[in-house]
Amino acid sequence: MRSKLVAGVTAGLLTLGGLAGCTDDDTPVARGNGTGKVGVILPDTTTSQRWGSDDPKLLKAAFDKAAVPVDIRNADGKAENFTRIADEMIAGGASVLLLANLDADSGRAVIAKAKRAGVKTIDYDRLTLNGGADYYVSFDNEEVGRMQGRGLVKCLKNKGVANPRIAYLNGATTDNNATLFKAGSDEVLQPKYDDGSFLKGPDQSVPRWNNDDGRFIFDQMWQQTGGAIDGVLAANDGLGNAAITILKRVGKNGKIPVTGQDAETQGLQNILAGDQCMTVYKPIKKEADAAAKLAISLYKGQPATAGARVKDPESGAYVDSVLLRPTEIFKKNVGDVIDDGFVARKTVCTGAFAKFCTRNGI
Ligand code: BGC
Repeated sequence: MRSKLVAGVTAGLLTLGGLAGCTDDDTPVARGNGTGKVGVILPDTTTSQRWGSDDPKLLKAAFDKAAVPVDIRNADGKAENFTRIADEMIAGGASVLLLANLDADSGRAVIAKAKRAGVKTIDYDRLTLNGGADYYVSFDNEEVGRMQGRGLVKCLKNKGVANPRIAYLNGATTDNNATLFKAGSDEVLQPKYDDGSFLKGPDQSVPRWNNDDGRFIFDQMWQQTGGAIDGVLAANDGLGNAAITILKRVGKNGKIPVTGQDAETQGLQNILAGDQCMTVYKPIKKEADAAAKLAISLYKGQPATAGARVKDPESGAYVDSVLLRPTEIFKKNVGDVIDDGFVARKTVCTGAFAKFCTRNGI
């Protein structure tokens, strides 16, 4: 009884807040209490397979299941698109925005505008630094980096390389996740540089996570070091594949372990072929479901609880958060990703990869 009352009061307040909200042209728009839509803005379709296929598909399914209207759009790598889409959604009466930002500046500006209009915001996968979103839903991204570091150590050990020299292809400096991934892998690898058992090679961030840039950067690293690279800490599968493309060109693929992230089809195939050491599987269905659950509560004007808090390192403020657990994938457990329903066997085990699947009992 009591909780019903509290919920009712909260809903009322949210509705009032929503009614008071205005768009930039000062037209009042009613929000919350089951009106409008949930708007989702994803960053691009080229830096990881997930943004163009998995996230939109899984988010749509979660909102459809709850019969909550959702508008899912992609900024195609451009901050101006991100901003324009957000403006359109806010003007169109969205009551909640779910955002995977392209950079902190444009993300922060969108959150500020949303707030002024009484629109609730959820940082999806990427925390907007100093943004002050109402919620943040992601994975334990430092753990993703630790898994990459530990995975690389394991693969190098299996290859029996003494004093291996590590090259880095880090994610975009504009993505807070890239900072967290790097912090995680540093935690594992720095002590090894300090005790001299590993050697630190070239270490670069790839602007905007651009895979073509990643290939170019790795090519330069290879040439500048005269091929003195024994392992590659690549921040995701796309950048891992960028390194593998160059390693293939110089006939070193499969000899030099490369890490990744996302369990993309190509990443899984690279692992099965022996060209990639490991990937980090992040069950995106759980991320989409958790974000949708919060968004649906906010949409209906009901109280929403995230369960954890994350400190925004820039503002020092705590953001209510859901942080999910990633999983390491090596050749021996590629099948787990298929069993989890993330990707179909026939998609991975196609053409030249069929024999690798059979060989690995997939
Ligand atoms: C995401 C990764 C993705 C990368 C590039 C990161 O913020 O967490 O899953 O591979 O962006 O799009």
